[in-house]
Amino acid sequence: MTPASLSTLPAPSVRRSADDDGQIARTAAARVPVSTHRDRVRAELARYSAAIGLTGIVRRHGSPLLVLDTARVREQLDLLRRELPAAHIHFATKALPHPAVVSTIAEAGASFEVASRGEIALLSDAGVDVGRTLHTHPIRSRADVADAYCSGIRRFVVDNPGELSKLAVLPRDIDVLVRLSFPNPAAGCDLSTKFGATEVQAAALVEQAIGLGVGVAGFSFHVGSQTTTVAPFERAIGRTTRLMSELEARTGARFSVLDLGGGFPIGYDEAVPDLAVLGAGIRNAIAASGRNDTVLLEPGRFVTATAMTLVSRVVGSSDRVDGRWHYLDDGLYGSYSNVLTEGVHPLVFAASELSGSSVPEPARERVTLAGPTCDSVDVIARGVELPVLGEGDLLVSPMMGAYTSVTASGFNGLEPTPIHVIDAGPLRF
Ligand SMILES: Cc1ncc(COP(=O)(O)O)c(C=O)c1O
Repeated sequence: MTPASLSTLPAPSVRRSADDDGQIARTAAARVPVSTHRDRVRAELARYSAAIGLTGIVRRHGSPLLVLDTARVREQLDLLRRELPAAHIHFATKALPHPAVVSTIAEAGASFEVASRGEIALLSDAGVDVGRTLHTHPIRSRADVADAYCSGIRRFVVDNPGELSKLAVLPRDIDVLVRLSFPNPAAGCDLSTKFGATEVQAAALVEQAIGLGVGVAGFSFHVGSQTTTVAPFERAIGRTTRLMSELEARTGARFSVLDLGGGFPIGYDEAVPDLAVLGAGIRNAIAASGRNDTVLLEPGRFVTATAMTLVSRVVGSSDRVDGRWHYLDDGLYGSYSNVLTEGVHPLVFAASELSGSSVPEPARERVTLAGPTCDSVDVIARGVELPVLGEGDLLVSPMMGAYTSVTASGFNGLEPTPIHVIDAGPLRF
């Protein structure tokens, strides 16, 4: 939608200027009783929207629109570095493979984790020194292996003998990390069933690598995406470091790398523990191992989720047997693909809830929010309490920067939601 066509819509409940935004957000934040997670996120989003002039951006660029703020990526990297200062960060490119994110991460001195040729090409095109990148997909075609090596990748994750043999054809300036599998059914997305070796299988892989003359730098695991307690990290660190010490004693190999993977959580519709809590538990578990390994992290969601804000619009509404439905111009086959593929539930706010108003609180009602496709699975949220909305009104979802646009499809001929990049700098409300 163009800015011109925006003006032909029924007036959405949005403000006219960034100054207005600031004024109104202060009023809204003051009025909102900060009690629930949703209220807290709403107050924060109101201040953020005002600070970046979100409604002005949407007026210029139309909807649906994802606003990507690279300053928020730097902020999240800083948080990780503050809590785990000794760890080397390898951003999981899959979470948001966007050139602006890649440049921001490279400029901040962090590195990358990749799983495919396309991701390597994205980094190379951005001028990244691919030599520090981890290739973590444990199953690769021989062509992928050759391409990764020729592109400059020197460290590969393995979890089975056949794939280790494929890597053994490469020159010996490569090394491997053996990926272990630790089930975590409580995670938002348990990654332990598709990939990862048991400790017994890992021991055999180390013996095989020694026989092939392939260096084993150390071990990796992923405790599961959206892991909200420290216990899975503590367990995985304890078991991995014990295995490393046992295998060193048994085989004479020396390992130096402990890769903790990703999994750091984001508080979408529920609060999650502060990173400081997870950080302290992880630091203690590493210290308790008595080892002195180089620690790697592969965070994806944590680095980019807060960096994108989605603005969508009510295209039409209908009263169904279960109440009022609003049909938006983005949905589960678009930016809300994280609902479908990740099982997360992003909060959705009416823009009018963020901009506040001097007029009395609008009436509210419980509604169903659906995406624009014909598929009945394309329902973003049910039973959401929102102000009464009409055609053209804007909706805003924060924390839409991880596994959203990247997992969207073109189903029903939908165009990808445009991504508008800003750098809002440090924000102090
Ligand atoms: C190997 C690997 N590393 C890192 C990540 C990033 O995980 P998260 O986004 O939970 O931090 C993933 C996610 O699927 C992964 O498969």
